[in-house]
Amino acid sequence: MRSFNLAALALSISSGSLAAPTSGRSLPIVDLGYELHQALNYNETTEIYTFSNIRYAQAPTSKLRFRAPAPPLVDRGAVRNGSEHRTCPQAIPAWQSKAFVPIDEFSASGKPFNLTAWEQAIEDAPPIPIDTTKGTTEDCLFLDVHVPKKILERAQRHPKGFHGVPVLVWVHGGGFVLGSKTGYPQPTYNPDLIMQKGQEYSKDGFIYVAINYRLGAFGFLSGPQVLQDGDQNAGILDQRFAFEWVQHNIHLFGGAPDRVTAMGESGGGGSILALMVGAGVKAPFSQVISQSPAMNPTIAAPAGAFEEFLSRLNVSSLAEARELDSAAVIRANSEQVGAAPPTSYVFGAVKDAKSMPAHLDVLFHRGEFDKSVKVLSSVNTLEGGFFFDPTAKTDDAVRKVITNGIPNFNATLLDELANQIYPPIFDGSQGYTDNQSRQISINGDAYFYCNFLALNEATKGAAHAYEFGVSPGVHTQDLAYTFDDPYSPPALAQARETLVSAITNFAVYGRPDLIVDGQAKHFPSWGSTKQQVTIGDRGSTVTHSAVNEKRCAWWRALHESQ
Ligand SMILES: *[C@@H]1O[C@H](CO)[C@@H](O)[C@H](O)[C@H]1NC(C)=O
Ligand SMILES: *[C@@H]1O[C@H](CO)[C@@H](O)[C@H](O)[C@H]1NC(C)=O
Ligand SMILES: *[C@@H]1O[C@H](CO)[C@@H](O)[C@H](O)[C@H]1NC(C)=O
Ligand SMILES: *[C@@H]1O[C@H](CO)[C@@H](O)[C@H](O)[C@H]1NC(C)=O
Ligand SMILES: *[C@@H]1O[C@H](CO)[C@@H](O)[C@H](O)[C@H]1NC(C)=O
Ligand SMILES: *[C@@H]1O[C@H](CO)[C@@H](O)[C@H](O)[C@H]1NC(C)=O
Repeated sequence: MRSFNLAALALSISSGSLAAPTSGRSLPIVDLGYELHQALNYNETTEIYTFSNIRYAQAPTSKLRFRAPAPPLVDRGAVRNGSEHRTCPQAIPAWQSKAFVPIDEFSASGKPFNLTAWEQAIEDAPPIPIDTTKGTTEDCLFLDVHVPKKILERAQRHPKGFHGVPVLVWVHGGGFVLGSKTGYPQPTYNPDLIMQKGQEYSKDGFIYVAINYRLGAFGFLSGPQVLQDGDQNAGILDQRFAFEWVQHNIHLFGGAPDRVTAMGESGGGGSILALMVGAGVKAPFSQVISQSPAMNPTIAAPAGAFEEFLSRLNVSSLAEARELDSAAVIRANSEQVGAAPPTSYVFGAVKDAKSMPAHLDVLFHRGEFDKSVKVLSSVNTLEGGFFFDPTAKTDDAVRKVITNGIPNFNATLLDELANQIYPPIFDGSQGYTDNQSRQISINGDAYFYCNFLALNEATKGAAHAYEFGVSPGVHTQDLAYTFDDPYSPPALAQARETLVSAITNFAVYGRPDLIVDGQAKHFPSWGSTKQQVTIGDRGSTVTHSAVNEKRCAWWRALHESQ
């Protein structure tokens, strides 16, 4: 989701199917019980099979729209191979699309970062004219499985008594409104590098799974009517369902259900945390890699979002909205989110008794989470650099941006925020130098840093944490260091080795050991001094987290009051 090369964009969205597969006949078939699924591709260089678009839930359409996912129906009439395109309906707020434009220029290595120029570049950028309704389908609850040939063969030869290999499950981000398991609008999440490293570091490597989940209004419509006649946070329920699919089926591919690592970034990094919080909750995985964990501070939808959605559909109830054609609902979602004011995505995870009883920060602080889960967590150095309005240059304008992005932010809170917590002092002592970078500080804490801090502190120091600081360290910049992404500027080699070794060793051994230039490097745990590995342009150093705890305490009080 990085550089927007419009020619490539047209290609990746319009092509109805995936890239040229290897001859179908010889590819292996896995019997899932409810369906027979054949690998779509075998790469002779990497010796990895890809099973694409395995259905993990029924089409969430008509009566099932805006409800928790339902198990797939039995469909054994034909062998499925997943050659069709499966991307959930989505949307990009116009304000957000502007921030994607300058990122490549500013993250190309060697260029010193200039904050003022960055702010100006986003202000000057045109919104990306991307039609997010194209090539998407509501019948999108599918996942991909990438498995080394030798593992699959062993599993098929010894269906019983086979000791499975670790599994890494990827949950993409995109503000709960955008993205897909393979990357959207371009296929940027290619796991070949981390999988190859997995086989280098351990005999067997690991199996990689990537999931889709419902986005925007489809996954995150909320309010009294949804509570009464549907399910809130359907997109998070989809994720839980996909993880349960992994628990029940991954042994068929050679994976161990008790060695599953959930890895997610941004909205994905926040939602996988939602799967491990709540009193007595057992997470459907044993380890988590939470990158830039995002969550709206008041876990609520903007006032009137539900009503506006129904009104865009010209209906007056959810029941009527369920009767509409996909195309009309897809368009309404895309238009409503597209028009969101700066820093708002309209739809996202909300407080919900069944799926997220309080803000993550609160539940971690109270100790209400699955403490058996091992944690690797991260943030980028300039998280907020994506989430501000470059045209908001006065105090009043800043206040407006905050109330646009964070629902239920009343005047009392605004005064505290603007006068005491992030005061209008621009000499650099507060971490900002103008009203735009002030928003960057506020939103960085509000959406990311305080979640990161709460998670690490809740583990009583056992977590391992890193900060991705390759200049400028903006949100999403780390993705092209984990995945093979030909659409972003080339990754700096040492930083990439550091990140990839941490992720891979954590997935296969449960410890994020660093291996750079063939040399092992210690990755200390968070401990009592909040240690983290900072990954920079020239490799990594151990530092102490600089997240502002005083400010996070203020945000926690707000989280508690929700
Ligand atoms: C996948 O299945 C479809 C429908 O059965 C078929 O048309 C297509 O040729 C298959 N592709 C491969 C690579 O086997
Ligand atoms: C196989 O994977 C390698 C490594 O990612 C890639 O460079 C190559 O293009 C792939 N081959 C095919 C035929 O897709
Ligand atoms: C940073 O960018 C601004 C706006 O383009 C420019 O005026 C300023 O000179 C730049 N600063 C440096 C140190 O290059
Ligand atoms: C709702 O009604 C308006 C005005 O008649 C029309 O332009 C629009 O296409 C309708 N929307 C849907 C989803 O039917
Ligand atoms: C921020 O906005 C206030 C007015 O609301 C103004 O006084 C102040 O100078 C602005 N700060 C900067 C650095 O422009
Ligand atoms: C403002 O919101 C906070 C947090 O939700 C709440 O505690 C407080 O009572 C509200 N104040 C007013 C004046 O509504």
